[in-house]
Amino acid sequence: MPGYARRVAGYGTTIFSEVNAMIAGRDVVNLGQGRPDFDGPDAMLQAAADATTQHTANQYPPGYGIPALREALADHAAQHYGLEVDAEKGVLITGGATEGVFSAVVGLVDAGDEVILLEPYYDTYLRAVQIAGATPVYVPMEPPAWTFNPDALKAAFNPNTRAIILNTPHNPSGRVFSRDELNLIAALCQKYDALVISDEVYEHLTYNEAQHVPVSVLPGMAERTVRVSSAAKTFSVTGWKVGWAMGAPELIEGLWRVHQNVIFAINHPGQYGVLAGLNMGQAYVEEFQAMYARKREILLQGLDAAGLRVTYEPNGAFYVLADFSGVFEGDDRAFTQHLIHEVGVACIPPSPFFSDMHCHLGRGHVRFAYCQQDDTLHRAAERLAQLR
Ligand SMILES: Cc1ncc(COP(=O)(O)O)c(C=O)c1O
Repeated sequence: MPGYARRVAGYGTTIFSEVNAMIAGRDVVNLGQGRPDFDGPDAMLQAAADATTQHTANQYPPGYGIPALREALADHAAQHYGLEVDAEKGVLITGGATEGVFSAVVGLVDAGDEVILLEPYYDTYLRAVQIAGATPVYVPMEPPAWTFNPDALKAAFNPNTRAIILNTPHNPSGRVFSRDELNLIAALCQKYDALVISDEVYEHLTYNEAQHVPVSVLPGMAERTVRVSSAAKTFSVTGWKVGWAMGAPELIEGLWRVHQNVIFAINHPGQYGVLAGLNMGQAYVEEFQAMYARKREILLQGLDAAGLRVTYEPNGAFYVLADFSGVFEGDDRAFTQHLIHEVGVACIPPSPFFSDMHCHLGRGHVRFAYCQQDDTLHRAAERLAQLR
C-alpha cells in the first residue's frame, strides 16, 4: 500500500494530540490546549448565522477576503497601533494564524535561506520552515524570565538570514516582548535585510503595565514585517479558523500566491462574524482583558497553593509556565502524565517547543492554559492542591 511522502515522515503527532489522547475517557480538568471552554460573543455568532440563513455568504468569497473585513482590519491596525495598511492588497484573510504564518514562510522564504526561531516556539513554525526547504536557526529564551541573550540573537543573524518568526505576547511563556528586545530585532533585521513574520494572536491579552507593541511600528519595519493575527483567541472562536496577515502589498502578494493554491478563500460566514466582532470596538476589548486578568489570578493563586512555582508571572497571552521541581521528580512529560493520571488536571510539557539542542530548558516546567470558565479554573486549583 502506498504510504505518505518522505517529506512528512518526521512529522510525528503533536504534543497537543498526545495529551488529548492521554485524557480521553478520563475525568480530567483540561488546562492543556489553548482552547476556551466558552463561546465567543453572541453578536458574532448571530452575524455568522445570519450570513448563512440570509443566503449572503454561502458561496466562495473573494480570495483575499471580504472587503468589509479587510477594511475593518486596516482600521483596527490604524486605531490601535497607528499603522497604515492598504486594505485592498495589504490584508489577506487566512485560515487562522496558522495558515498566515505558513503562507508567509512558504511565500517569502527561499530554499536554503535561514529562518530564526525563538524557542520555545509554536510548533507549526518549524514545519513551515522545513516545508519551505529553509534552515531553522534556534535562539533559546531561558528560564526563569524566558528572555533571550542579546549576543545569542546577534550571533544568529548573518547574510543568509531571510526572516525571524516573532511571537508576542508569547505562547507558552506569557511574556510580552519589551521595546528594547523589539528594537534589537528591528536593528538586526535592517542590518541583514531580513523580514519579521510577527505572530500577534494574543495582541489584546496584556496585563498590568504591559503593552503590546507590533514590531511593524518601529522605524523602517513596516516594509519588512508581516503581522499575523486571528479571531481565535481575541474572540474565543478557535473553531472558526479565521485569521489574517497584513503588511506591504509586495509581501502579502507572496502569501497570496501560496494561499490561492492551498485553500483559495476562507469560510465566508465566519468572515461576517469576525467583522461583527471587530465592530464591537474598544468596549469589548476592555471587557475581554478584565475577564482574562481575573482568570490569570485564579490560576496563579491555585498554582501557588499547590507548590508549583511560577518563576515568571505572565504579562500576556493566557498561559503560565510553572516549575514543578518542588513537588515532583522527573521531566515535564513525566509530570504531565502524573498530573493527568493522579491529580486529574491536564497541562502541556513545553520541551517539544525547543530544538533537541535546547529542550532541556523546558524540562522543568509545564504549561497551563487559563482560557477556561472560572469554575473550571477553581476546580483545577482544588485538584492541584493535592500536590502539596
Ligand atoms: C502563538 C500561536 N500562533 C497561532 C496559533 C493558532 O492560531 P489559529 O487558530 O488562528 O490558527 C496559536 C494557537 O494556540 C498560538 O498560540
